Amino acid sequence: MSTKQFDVVVIGGGPGGYIAAIRAAQLGFNTACIDEWKNEKGGPAPGGTCTNVGCIPSKALLQSSEHFEHANHHFADHGISADNVRIDIKKMIGRKDTVVKQNNDGILYLFKKNKVTFFHGRGSFVAAKDGLYEVKAGEEVILAKHVVLATGSNARQLPGAAFDEELILSNDGALRIGEVPKKLGVIGSGVIGLEMGSVWRRLGAEVTVLEGLPTFLGAVDESVAKEAAKLFKKQGLKIELGVKIGEVAKSKDGVTVSYADAKGAAQTLAVDKLIISIGRVPNTIGLNAEAVGLKLDERGAIEVDCDCKTNLPNVWAVGDVVRGPMLAHKAEEEGVAVAERIAGQYGHVNFNTIPWVIYTSPEIAWVGRTEQQLKADGVEYKAGQFPFLANGRARALGDTNGFVKFLADAKTDEILGVHIIGPMASELISEAVVAMEFKASAEDIARICHAHPSLSEATKEAALAVDKRTLNF
Ligand code: FAD
Ligand code: NAI
Repeated sequence: MSTKQFDVVVIGGGPGGYIAAIRAAQLGFNTACIDEWKNEKGGPAPGGTCTNVGCIPSKALLQSSEHFEHANHHFADHGISADNVRIDIKKMIGRKDTVVKQNNDGILYLFKKNKVTFFHGRGSFVAAKDGLYEVKAGEEVILAKHVVLATGSNARQLPGAAFDEELILSNDGALRIGEVPKKLGVIGSGVIGLEMGSVWRRLGAEVTVLEGLPTFLGAVDESVAKEAAKLFKKQGLKIELGVKIGEVAKSKDGVTVSYADAKGAAQTLAVDKLIISIGRVPNTIGLNAEAVGLKLDERGAIEVDCDCKTNLPNVWAVGDVVRGPMLAHKAEEEGVAVAERIAGQYGHVNFNTIPWVIYTSPEIAWVGRTEQQLKADGVEYKAGQFPFLANGRARALGDTNGFVKFLADAKTDEILGVHIIGPMASELISEAVVAMEFKASAEDIARICHAHPSLSEATKEAALAVDKRTLNF
């Protein structure tokens, strides 16, 4: 039997890999994608971290828990009485699993539609030979002209606190807790800590988040971080900053975390379950990188240039396994750009306009530079802010927390950053991304007609605020 040969072989079927494979196939390349993720029956489950234990399942649980919170605390404001509201956790988790499966199946369908050959199993380098790469794809060995590595990332371990996914949970275990813990501990107040902490708090857990840094959400615009800290505290999320974690001890009843608080005093936190969300590490395990001399950097990420080229000819790498933010849409953009570069086109990723979203309530979203970054960079800027409290749609929704904030160049008025905390911030941020991609000025947004009543009017008003001429505040 002759060895199968492909123009492009993608290792990893997460958002970086499966999108790279589809784009390569669209461009006429004979393409294969290898992914090893298994569903509970051992079958293929492409989509990577994002689909299986990341973006999609976390948003499913955020939605379910938000409904529960609304029914318990906000329906009454609308004149709706809903006594004795209960939550069936098994059903909620089952719904989440169905949503995940729909996405896995959707990707398998897309592979078929685009004629991408899918291999379920591990992909690894065997050797470089005659200008081609021999790649193990599950049990088979195939040949590739180009290889795209998209092997993603894994949760970072805290030394001395190995994940068992029963008591000490990574994002994986945090997404399938069987019953609401009375007390839930979270180490790390980053994106996962806040999103997963919000899910289980809304469902009734007493949640304490322990954060090593003295500042809350240091990467977020300071005014947004301040507003978020105030609102999360009001919701009952306990966040302790500047702690130093000591021993993490398991017992049959739960987990005890010993730590020093910000003043250095010894403290303990006893919880039923502990989520550890202290960042993620690039995953190159099993790639057999040594066989071909693939270079990694000091963080263990695959070293790439700005075009996602590795040190090896015709080997590319995208997504969480390379430098840059660990976001699904960043991985996708890189996947598309690499496929286009292989085709001799000018694939392009604009790192300055990658949006960030934290799906808490209220949501937090931003693009571009924060006020503290502009100060540090010595850029002269103007700021404009508009509160959702003064937005008619937000009042009608009963969701008036937060604001939209614009930062624009003091001389040219070019938008340098947009920061939103409030309802549907994840959707509203797209307008700011488009504006920044087209190098719009704040006045451009201020002059555009926005539908009334809509939350997007707060965006227009924040742009007007840059010139100190809001109409509704
Ligand atoms: P992954 O999605 O990690 O995919 C890598 C794939 O490669 C996996 O299927 C893995 O099994 C496979 N693989 C690895 N090695 C091999 C091998 N040798 N052979 C075969 N297959 C292999 N990002 C957002 O933008 N928005 C969000 O809302 C969001 N929420 C998140 C929530 C959580 C809880 C977590 C953990 C992450 C979240 N992220 C979110 C981040 C997002 O999931 C990642 O940035 C994204 O999945 C990275 O895509 P990727 O393709 O690089 O890697
Ligand atoms: P993170 O980097 O967002 O946050 C980790 C937090 O843990 C930081 O605040 C850090 O200071 C703290 N920390 C690190 N070591 C610590 C220690 N020893 N003790 C106490 N605190 C410590 O990482 P997280 O939340 O694990 O998420 C990983 C990545 O996944 C994110 O950076 C993001 O790229 C992605 N993600 C994106 C989401 C989104 O886009 N909505 C949602 C969830 C995850």
